[in-house]
Amino acid sequence: MNKKVIKLLDEQFNKEFYSAYLYLGIAKFFAQKDLPGFASWYKVQAEEEQEHAMKIYEYLLDQDQDVTLAPIGEVKVKFKDALEAVKAADEHEHYITDEIVKIMDAAVKDGDYRTQNFLNWFIEEQQEEETNSKEMVAKVQMLGKDAKNLYLLDKELASREG
Ligand code: FEO
Repeated sequence: MNKKVIKLLDEQFNKEFYSAYLYLGIAKFFAQKDLPGFASWYKVQAEEEQEHAMKIYEYLLDQDQDVTLAPIGEVKVKFKDALEAVKAADEHEHYITDEIVKIMDAAVKDGDYRTQNFLNWFIEEQQEEETNSKEMVAKVQMLGKDAKNLYLLDKELASREG
């Protein structure tokens, strides 16, 4: 495998754990605001991010490459309100999409079809992630200012399963 592709995948492994951390921070914010449905939704999201990281871990090891397990960066855990928290998630997903595309670019340049095939799953997943995070921002924008609506939205979000 090409050194640049390996390095980018290894860094992406770390970024997926960073994403899990970020979502856990958001979950904590909502738990402390007594919005358990939001908290649960973001905890499920944090679990998904760990699964993304582990896909990369397995892939690199399957290719006889190393995973460096670099430290996970500190994430923002304080937010002004619900809207700021869900917007942070939405911005982050766009950033992650850009990072996945960078790895795909490197794999294409290298003619690395196996990695391209592996990354196709992530390209599709990012579409879903962006759609979900965009919808969450829209819902909080529409309903978040009214306490009763926020309560009902919180109840709806509690139904997300891992
Ligand atoms: Fe692993 Fe939310 O993208």
